[in-house]
Amino acid sequence: MRRVLSVILSLAVIGVIVAAAIAYWPAGPARAVAAPARTPELIARGQYIATAADCVACHTTEGGQLYAGGRAFKLPFGTIYSPNITPDRETGIGGWTDAAFLRAVKQGVDDDGQELYPALPYTSYHRMSDGDVLALKAYLDTLPAAHAPNHPNALSFPFNQRPLVRFWKILFMPRSGFAPDASKPADWNRGAYLVTALGHCGECHTPRNLMYGLKTGQALSGETVQGWSAWNITSDPHHGIGGWGAGDIAAYLKSGYAPGRGAANGPMKEAIDYSLSKLTPDDLTAIAVYLKSTPASDRGPAADANPPSLSASTLTGPASGDTGDAYGRRVFEGACASCHAWNGQGQQTPMAALHGLPSVADPKGINVIQTVLRGSSVTAPEGHAFMPSFRADYSDAEIAAAANYVVEHFGGASGRATPKDVAKARAQ
Ligand code: HEC
Ligand code: HEC
Ligand code: HEC
Repeated sequence: MRRVLSVILSLAVIGVIVAAAIAYWPAGPARAVAAPARTPELIARGQYIATAADCVACHTTEGGQLYAGGRAFKLPFGTIYSPNITPDRETGIGGWTDAAFLRAVKQGVDDDGQELYPALPYTSYHRMSDGDVLALKAYLDTLPAAHAPNHPNALSFPFNQRPLVRFWKILFMPRSGFAPDASKPADWNRGAYLVTALGHCGECHTPRNLMYGLKTGQALSGETVQGWSAWNITSDPHHGIGGWGAGDIAAYLKSGYAPGRGAANGPMKEAIDYSLSKLTPDDLTAIAVYLKSTPASDRGPAADANPPSLSASTLTGPASGDTGDAYGRRVFEGACASCHAWNGQGQQTPMAALHGLPSVADPKGINVIQTVLRGSSVTAPEGHAFMPSFRADYSDAEIAAAANYVVEHFGGASGRATPKDVAKARAQ
């Protein structure tokens, strides 16, 4: 018996040593690559790639120099800060070779062989072509250098142990790059590349498991990110965007608004402002073509465009037998009804229509609460629309009640938002 125990114990000790050796073994130098000639065409291509991949959104603080880093990402186990990726030799990536840059973006290993956390979405960028990554580097090298030392991360043990990321990668790193599907047309393939590699849509829209790995079997079926719900964007007609025309999708990605589909807020508005609004019409159509072909998923709220509570209401008031929560109705009447008509239309502009949107059919009202706290504005070919922030003048209880009323009245679902949820969203 003791012998068996000691064999098991020795095996366990050897296992731990082997695992530690794998994790902490220094990575070798990055594989050398042939540098492309730095022509103006290459740099222009790199700029477009940087835009489509939205590097700037994460590597810039509000009001800070572009690409100089410092943006904080709050995770359950601490805070991580994006580094400076301007060509400053001392504090940026000015001294990096093309090979080191390629390895960082596609494999998540930095120039001195340390593991990078998947907050840099290399699980998607892994699919980028080497040519695109090198063009991107050529563009970054033309930017003004910012002297901005990196902010140290504040992660708790064991998450502060970078070598452990190697095990994470064994489980969750995609095995292969992007391979075009010869049986599909060129615009579908272009859309697939834009969605899965450059645009990294799945980093927000694909659910994650407890270990932060993407559940690739449920790609694009919806997830909560930075306190917002990134909706199901698969081809399902009720839970996803299968009911949207390709033109609606392209319009939404261009301006953040499509008639009858609502306005983009939060992280999606940021992705549109920095990145998607600057893509060519052909690329936006390609994204739409690809999204409309994705396997349908029925996860997430299904927006009912015309629940009974709406058809019985008018522009100026709810149905006489309105069953919505009376407190929430009073808040809505006082704070919201001047712009959002009771029958789901907008009072002054159709852009303020509230029917048929996933936000208002979500029982937790996550995006309703965020929009009410932060306010919103949108500029589209249809015009400019604005909603003020209610953060300062309304309590957590009032905002939760209004959100629940909106979900019940406009979405036909039963609202479950609590004042605690609002307090949490305020702190985000
Ligand atoms: C979703 C946010 C996000 C996006 C998008 C993003 N990054 Fe990052 N990036 C980060 C974070 C956070 C880190 C720090 C990771 C760490 O400390 O392990 C990082 C690290 C890096 C590094 C390593 C720098 C160093 O000094 O070690 C490089 C290079 C880099 N990113 C380049 C890019 C490029 C190029 C793009 C666009 C193709 C991009 N990133 C897009 C968040 C992002
Ligand atoms: C940084 C996170 C993030 C990224 C990256 C992102 N999205 Fe989103 N997306 C969101 C959030 C959050 C919403 C919800 C916005 C709202 O309700 O106002 C959203 C909403 C949408 C919607 C509207 C869905 C609906 O039913 O109303 C579409 C379409 C969409 N995203 C497509 C995309 C595509 C295509 C990409 C990649 C090119 C992408 N998103 C990348 C976070 C993201
Ligand atoms: C001054 C006019 C105004 C007031 C007051 C107002 N809103 Fe809005 N709201 C708008 C407009 C315009 C939009 C659409 C454009 C946008 O999002 O910028 C909008 C968008 C929204 C959305 C997002 C819909 C989507 O597209 O996803 C929600 C939810 C919402 N409002 C709820 C409320 C609630 C709840 C209140 C009251 C607490 C309120 N609004 C008060 C004008 C207003």
